[in-house]
Amino acid sequence: MASFYLAIFLFSFGMASAQLSSNFYASSCPKALSTIKSAVNSAVSKEHRMGASLLRLHFHDCFVNANDTSSFTGEKTASPNDGSARGFDVIDTIKSKVETVCPGVVSCADILAVAARESVVFLGGNSWTVELGRRDSTTASLSAANSDLPSPTMDLSALISTFSDKGFSAKEMVALSGSHTIGQARCKMFRDRIYNEANINSSFATSIQSNCPSSGGDDNLSPLDATSPLVFDNAYYKNLLNNKGLLHSDQQLFNGGSTDSQVTTYSTNSATFLSDFASAMVKMSNLSPLTGTSGQIRTNCRSIN
Ligand code: HEM
Ligand SMILES: *[C@@H]1O[C@H](CO)[C@@H](O)[C@H](O)[C@H]1NC(C)=O
Ligand SMILES: *[C@@H]1O[C@H](CO)[C@@H](O)[C@H](O)[C@H]1NC(C)=O
Repeated sequence: MASFYLAIFLFSFGMASAQLSSNFYASSCPKALSTIKSAVNSAVSKEHRMGASLLRLHFHDCFVNANDTSSFTGEKTASPNDGSARGFDVIDTIKSKVETVCPGVVSCADILAVAARESVVFLGGNSWTVELGRRDSTTASLSAANSDLPSPTMDLSALISTFSDKGFSAKEMVALSGSHTIGQARCKMFRDRIYNEANINSSFATSIQSNCPSSGGDDNLSPLDATSPLVFDNAYYKNLLNNKGLLHSDQQLFNGGSTDSQVTTYSTNSATFLSDFASAMVKMSNLSPLTGTSGQIRTNCRSIN
């Protein structure tokens, strides 16, 4: 009986997180974590927006690698105002510092996972334990990457199912969306919302329109959380209660549907949000299946070796 339960335990554990562990680099690269942390703090203190770009890159890397079909190299086709381009510059800098202390040891996927956490902590969010030992993908496919990611035009049911495909509950999806308390979006991502939707505060829509014309200016940026775009707090949810979500997908979380009550809770209880967010990030960070001898440790995070 005992061995039966042991077998079930090993099977489940192996399926869930392979060989990831929080002290993976303890002997192979003891300075890995402190090197990444100080590089992130220096980049984000120079430009707070950088933290948002790093968090978003990690999200995309997790969702895309969860199917082992591609890697974040696809992001390099991004336009100059896509935060991914800025985030990649910081990743290049961090990677070269990590390569100096331990060449060929630390994966880009792990660097991104730690950088995302340090960014959130630097901007005021809760910390979480990052499990390490991810390997980098040896393939890259932009179309697979995009088909796995949620789109800003999605309604609530599509958002729920996109996250459910990766094993997340609707509750976790709402908590993870709170990452839009930092960072920016391009005009083309929300133009239809600010000109044509009814569930938007009209003075908010007018103020955003001044930097996002009805045609042209596709890449002009607006903060996802106009209240406190550089602070990792619960203002995103307070905005939703006032119909001041920037993306169509943001306002879907508070539009008379099943997630309204959770948005209301987070809008009044920031500690609950920060704690739920950190827990959901642990789960998201552990989606990547590449461990052991699969994949590779990239030399240059932008391309396969
Ligand atoms: C719920 C579904 C989601 C949708 C539809 C969505 C969509 C978007 C879009 C369209 C942008 C603007 C991109 C641009 O204009 O270049 C954006 C930005 C961002 N997203 Fe999401 N996102 C979602 C969930 C998430 C999650 C789960 C995270 C992280 C855990 C995240 C983190 C971010 C961050 C930090 C930014 C700002 C990036 C920057 O300023 O450089 N998003 N998102
Ligand atoms: C990724 O995996 C999920 C769950 O296994 C699946 O539902 C989804 O369709 C996959 N996406 C792609 C692009 O293969
Ligand atoms: C829209 O937002 C403005 C500014 O915050 C506020 O004064 C106004 O009452 C809001 N309008 C509605 C209809 O909620």
